[in-house]
Amino acid sequence: MATRLLICPPGHYDVRYAINPWMTQHVGDAAPDAVRQWERLVELIGCVGDVELVQVEPQSQTPDIVFTANAALVVGNLAIVSSFRHAERRREQPVYRAALARAGFATTFLRQTYFEGAGDALFDRVRPLLYAGYGWRTERGATLQLQEIVGCRVLPLLLVDERFYHLDTALCPLSSGHVLAYMDAFSPHAQTMLRRAIEPGYLIEVSVDDALRFACNAVEVGDAVVMHDCTRRLRERLHDIGYRVFRTELTEFLKAGGSAKCLTLRLDDGPAVGMAAATA
Ligand code: ARG
Repeated sequence: MATRLLICPPGHYDVRYAINPWMTQHVGDAAPDAVRQWERLVELIGCVGDVELVQVEPQSQTPDIVFTANAALVVGNLAIVSSFRHAERRREQPVYRAALARAGFATTFLRQTYFEGAGDALFDRVRPLLYAGYGWRTERGATLQLQEIVGCRVLPLLLVDERFYHLDTALCPLSSGHVLAYMDAFSPHAQTMLRRAIEPGYLIEVSVDDALRFACNAVEVGDAVVMHDCTRRLRERLHDIGYRVFRTELTEFLKAGGSAKCLTLRLDDGPAVGMAAATA
């Protein structure tokens, strides 16, 4: 079955404001290579597996709308649309909502809380579990509301390193049951919860070197993972567990604190039903 992804071309993308530490040093920078890098990413994703792409039209007042991971969290045919913490991104909400409604989803918002969609909420692919990051963007209250909606256990994980302000910059659950994680991005309690939830052989702890290359911000399509960059060590580990690894330069998007996974939103999403990895 094809992986359905929501994407948005970088028609109006640049770094106009700073709402995370990556952006601070780049405010006012143009991103001349953004279109080329984005087109190569999309082409690569289309080549490595069976994907169906749904596009959002870029808008002039919303440079970060390219980061569609933050549009919503999709649970079956429901899209829980983001409520952005920063005013700079709130104009994206109605655009994302309309695009998701057009794609056939029922849409809703959480009540009186900040929530940044699949940037901060990731379903485990084999365990019936939703990892929910909070602290910098999404609020803890959002993770509690998610518990009422998603139909599986929600693991609220406090993020403590501002460079990894969204969960998808520090955690990547894979369909093999393995989970990439940069542990220092999480509070000690969150680290304990991750170690309890994921069997030791399945938790792949990445180095700060890999985390800073956005290796956790990878898109999985079939047996391929697509990312900006990673160390040879991580590449070999991923090969060992059966993945093909593809790297594609996304430096223009790193300026805004985003990378491959942030530029996509998985539309066929929801809680896993089995425990395949644990019993394999
Ligand atoms: N500049 C954007 C922001 O700070 C980048 C978002 C990256 N998205 C993600 N899912 N990590 O909101």
